[in-house]
Amino acid sequence: MSKIRSIIRGVGGYLPKRVLTNEELSQMVDTSDEWIKERTGISQRHIAADDEMTSDLALAAAKQALDRSGLKPIDIDLVIMATTTPDHTFPASAVTVQAKLGIHQGAAFDMQAVCSGFVYGLATADSLLKSGGYRRAIVIGAETLSRIVDWTDRSTCVLFGDGAGAVVLEAEESNGELSDRGIITSHLRSDGRYRCKLFVDGGPGTSQQVGHIRMEGREVFKHAVTKIASTIHMSLEQAGLKSEDIDWFVPHQANKRILDGTAKRIGISPEKIVVTVDKHANTSAASIPLALNELYQSGRLQAGQLVLFEAMGGGFTWGSTLVRW
Ligand code: UT7
Repeated sequence: MSKIRSIIRGVGGYLPKRVLTNEELSQMVDTSDEWIKERTGISQRHIAADDEMTSDLALAAAKQALDRSGLKPIDIDLVIMATTTPDHTFPASAVTVQAKLGIHQGAAFDMQAVCSGFVYGLATADSLLKSGGYRRAIVIGAETLSRIVDWTDRSTCVLFGDGAGAVVLEAEESNGELSDRGIITSHLRSDGRYRCKLFVDGGPGTSQQVGHIRMEGREVFKHAVTKIASTIHMSLEQAGLKSEDIDWFVPHQANKRILDGTAKRIGISPEKIVVTVDKHANTSAASIPLALNELYQSGRLQAGQLVLFEAMGGGFTWGSTLVRW
């Protein structure tokens, strides 16, 4: 049976030049390099320059992904940008990226699912490509979380960083076989009963201010491993795969302990986990494509390998994607 698969043709990433170390942070708030490393695995994070907006980061990542895909702006008819830190309340930052890339056809919009934004964006693009209405998409995860971090709150300010990652997807005819390349399956979930566990205390409808990140860290941690593992089990079951079949586990990079705990629970060996949280910290929607970009650049990612993405974030939202490279 002929089916459409969304294949990944290109991947790109961008990190702002400025690096903020744990040591520097310990001079700003009552914390230490030792505490941050032990509880989170984070050593440093990148911070956008004053004149760098989320769309600038997104544009750099998207350009690299597009270059590597061998495609041109005229080939792209869909731009989805997952972000919690758009340049403006509206228009969507995706249209800024669309314009700066010179894409004047198709559709562009932002996606708000916080740290799960990239897997939500991938699943949405995959559905639109499968509908036959679109042929090629750029899916971006981009954040300047430094703009909504409360730099006096040690329980959150040590956790986040800025960055962007992107992939170019193309609809390709396939036989629907498990061995065919492209997105095999996606699972998205949310449960709004937990929306007060991780949120921003502002917005156009409430304070008319941007607000700051507020989090009950321990509560989020408690839910993370079980929720993520359940969606991964669903993905594997639907695809008829076992955890041993996964070649690369590319998780949302929130906390090294969550990454390791999830991998252990689903039975993925440590050498298959792609870890960037140490250098990037939590870049929300950008963390998965940035980690994928690191894996790609390392030369270890081979055609035919099975890659698993997963994320969980504010909402709560969570989800997973299985891709044949
Ligand atoms: O992207 C998805 C969203 N986010 C997450 O997935 C984050 C999930 N949660 C976590 O990663 C962890 O809960 C944190 C890293 C945020 C915190 O680690 P924890 O082991 O859960 O620590 P805790 O919140 O239980 O706090 C332990 C202690 C507290 O002091 P007391 O009450 O025991 O005296 C905190 O006040 O650590 C204190 N503390 C700190 N100490 C030094 C909290 N933040 C800091 C800090 N430096 N930065």
